[in-house]
Amino acid sequence: MKFFLTIFLTLTLLSSCRQNTQDEPLKPLAETVTYTEAFRPQYHFTPQEKWMNDPNGLVYHQGVYHLFYQYYPDDIVWGPMHWGHAVSKDMLHWEHKPIALYPDKNGYIFSGSAVVDTQNTTGFGTPENPPLVAIFTYHDDAKAKAGRHDFQTQGIAYSLDNGDTWTVYEDNPVIGNTDIHDFRDPKVFWHEDTQRWIMALVAGDHAKFYASDNLKTWTHLSDFGKDKGAHGGVWECPDLFKLPVEGTDEEKWVLFISINPGAPHGGSGTQYFVGSFDGTTFTTDQTTEKWIDWGTDNYAGVTYNNTPDSKRLFIGWMSNWLYAQETPSETWRSAMTLPRELSLTKVNGQYALQSKVFIDVEKNSDSVFSRDAIPLDQNGQFNLVSSSLGTSEISFRIPNQDVEIFFSNDEGDTLAVTYQKDKRIFSLDRSRSGMVNFNEAFGQKHSTSVSLLTSDSVNFQIFLDWSSIEIFLNDGLYSFTEIVFPKSPFNKLSIISDKNVKLTHFSVKNIHTIW
Ligand code: FRU
Repeated sequence: MKFFLTIFLTLTLLSSCRQNTQDEPLKPLAETVTYTEAFRPQYHFTPQEKWMNDPNGLVYHQGVYHLFYQYYPDDIVWGPMHWGHAVSKDMLHWEHKPIALYPDKNGYIFSGSAVVDTQNTTGFGTPENPPLVAIFTYHDDAKAKAGRHDFQTQGIAYSLDNGDTWTVYEDNPVIGNTDIHDFRDPKVFWHEDTQRWIMALVAGDHAKFYASDNLKTWTHLSDFGKDKGAHGGVWECPDLFKLPVEGTDEEKWVLFISINPGAPHGGSGTQYFVGSFDGTTFTTDQTTEKWIDWGTDNYAGVTYNNTPDSKRLFIGWMSNWLYAQETPSETWRSAMTLPRELSLTKVNGQYALQSKVFIDVEKNSDSVFSRDAIPLDQNGQFNLVSSSLGTSEISFRIPNQDVEIFFSNDEGDTLAVTYQKDKRIFSLDRSRSGMVNFNEAFGQKHSTSVSLLTSDSVNFQIFLDWSSIEIFLNDGLYSFTEIVFPKSPFNKLSIISDKNVKLTHFSVKNIHTIW
């Protein structure tokens, strides 16, 4: 009897914990969440528990970086979308906050952005306490299931206490739907030259731009992209921002469009266009497809509004819709990429986006091993075994030579990274990297042409965090982000090249856990 009573009480308690209503914010689950579960990243952002996808509402305000995200608090698969919330002072250590936005009568809360309404154009706050305004897509699932096309509209909400509590605007939606099937993911920013708000939105196979004086009334300006770029899938999560071209006086506008499916290695990926934006229309003479990351797992990434020193800071969702809902973590699902600072450069007459990791590695790590120069042995090898490797930054420079890099563990799981200098081909092979059978699209080798690597040596910077690898070549001229599920964290590194090769500036740093 006592046994049954205990079970009954436990179940009752568990089910009451699950009912997170709007009045009762998500409580930290300190008793159950240890951050030591299998595959749990130690220095990448993950939700405490349950399902997460896109980063949303990236904005800096009153000393903190906000990270809102697509969140389903009841399961580890996608469901009715909320905006989860976390804040950070350094983009590395995150504090979990209560859910910010809940589905309401207009629908689920899909992806979008947030701005600081400094001039109080909305009238939601005061000039002394300007509101934080979130602009997002409403997804009316009943309408979608009924086969209608007008199920996505745009809404706004505001916060007067730096994101802790939110009020949904009573006259939502602020942009209705005129029968456009996929109509979502507003990115809003303040456009200095025309002194008004600009919104980039996607509509299936193209982007639409809108303008507003008060974030409530919007005017359609122009469309872009029906005949430009990759079109293997639906356009999602746009972003539009200006960047100086390194070493010149030139400034260009960059438009991000995530696309699913249709990425270079299948499923989800983010393409970009470099061009001009005159306050009304975006134009480009770009003819080639450009991708912000050549790995399989950097999707729906966008940049921050209102950052100190106008830095262009980016976070992406480290997964791919091909298999996102089947990955083998059990209590939470998926992580964000490390934050990256973006810049624009010109190589061989082509504009190229460069991404550099924006966390203070020095301050948050311990040195495991470092040498100014390491000659390879008679077999052309360098080997290192360390239990710290699984959560580390590994960096070195190597002359422009064929090279193979293997990460492995005691279970025999191996992740292979190869660079072929003549063809300038870079490959990541996760077919033997551990748990791969949960989806047939996962255990593959991906090869990329890295023709912009023109220097006579290649600089590698690699971040491992048990279930992810992020590789940056030549200061982020190329980046590759992939998730992996080795049965235990990789603890062995092998670098194989010509026996006359010397690795220089070699270091391995163990990055501290943030939890
Ligand atoms: C991108 C996306 C967005 C949408 C959201 C829904 O991953 O499909 O277009 O707003 O996820 O969760």
